[in-house]
Amino acid sequence: MMQKSHWIGEVQSGMHDGKEVELKGWVHRTRGSNKIHFIVLRDSTGTIQCVAKRDALGDDSFEDLKSSLIETSIILKGMVNVDERAPGGHEIIVSSAEVVGPVNPEKPFPITESAMENADGGETEFLLDNRHLYLRTGRMTNMLKIRSSVFGAVHSYFREREFTEYHAPSFVAGAVEGGSTLFEVPYFGRKVYLTQSWQLYAEAAMPALERLYTVAPSFRAEKSRTRRHLTEFWHAEMEIAWAGNAEVMEHGEGLVRHIARTLLDERSDELASVGRDLDLVARYADSPYPRMRYDEAVETLQGLGVDIEWGQDLDYSKEKVLTQDFEVPHFLTHYPRIAKPFYHRPDPDDEKYVLCHDLLAPEGYGEIIGGGERTWSEKEILERIDEEGTPREPYEFYIDVRRYGGVPHGGFGLGIERVCSWLSGADHIREVIPFPRDSRRVTP
Ligand code: 4AD
Ligand code: MG
Repeated sequence: MMQKSHWIGEVQSGMHDGKEVELKGWVHRTRGSNKIHFIVLRDSTGTIQCVAKRDALGDDSFEDLKSSLIETSIILKGMVNVDERAPGGHEIIVSSAEVVGPVNPEKPFPITESAMENADGGETEFLLDNRHLYLRTGRMTNMLKIRSSVFGAVHSYFREREFTEYHAPSFVAGAVEGGSTLFEVPYFGRKVYLTQSWQLYAEAAMPALERLYTVAPSFRAEKSRTRRHLTEFWHAEMEIAWAGNAEVMEHGEGLVRHIARTLLDERSDELASVGRDLDLVARYADSPYPRMRYDEAVETLQGLGVDIEWGQDLDYSKEKVLTQDFEVPHFLTHYPRIAKPFYHRPDPDDEKYVLCHDLLAPEGYGEIIGGGERTWSEKEILERIDEEGTPREPYEFYIDVRRYGGVPHGGFGLGIERVCSWLSGADHIREVIPFPRDSRRVTP
């Protein structure tokens, strides 16, 4: 009863033509008459039309099927029939049926068939309230599969290159990315924070492991709700010893291209189903990513009439304009020192700048990676902490990394949902995470 022997995706691919199969799944759609009943059955691998006839099933079983509402779970046995007219080219001629989990007619599945079919990411409040049920839509299922392959690609990229997976705490005493987006948590009479990044604790292990990475949630108290901000997002981060900004960028480019290639290999069907042009994804997998200095980006923006002054970090509105016409992702390097947190290393050639990079995705998506070379001598880190007006105390462990055998090193963080949104062509970041968290919503 519990094991599955056949999958709808297999049947639709022609693996079981002319054979008897047993399918377990959920009623996706139904229609029919008193004699013949059509069910579109769904499992995690696809949908298929199933034809049940009263004559073949007998009255009781036929009536059970006929009264099965949408999202009823059932087990069907039947012959696989090749039929050009059926969606996917196959249908099941049902010989027996068993209802496993009925749906009460007093409380039918709240999301209508057409909302299920037409789910396109333009979710209404109603659909967000019913997110736990919305996960069953074809679009969301595709997004979740794409997401899974992105995680797999992150692990394979780093593991194939001798990086060690390493974990940092989520409760922390100090900020990484500045205080304004810190979540405070009461902690036995003290105040602690939810981590914004694994980085500082990764740097502590850098002299032990030299090449390390993680994929973990990071938290940011982003008050404004935008198409690309979550308060809880998944963060792929790496740290590498004996490396400068250029080597770190090579890994950023390598990782993003590997993710795009993996999606083409594993998820072409899903990408096409959510409306993504596969040629674009192939371009992002195959092309090199140019490097551009911050100053050049500011000039370009000013040339386009955008109101921006040298020294400002680029927010979404600016990145959007800048990347609208990019053919491929671009690295922006050498941001002004005043625009970036204390851990960035000032450029020895011109200390107004830091040796850092953001990777900006094209089509208006903007930043998907932030990283760079770290300040690695004790003297420099103390200077940077003091000039930021940050207290030293929570960072003593971080300063110790410099006190005891500091070496050049660097790393980056990649926002998993940013990359999933961009590569799938989603309109909104919440399309690519099952239960999105923003300033307004923590339920369901
Ligand atoms: O640029 P950020 O703030 O860099 C860091 O956190 C560094 N400490 C990383 C490092 O060097 N190890 O964040 C890195 C990436 C961004 O480029 C973006 O993709 C993602 O994290 N990100 C968010 N994604 C979704 N919602 C948010 N609120 C995000 N904030 C950052
Ligand atoms: Mg950033």
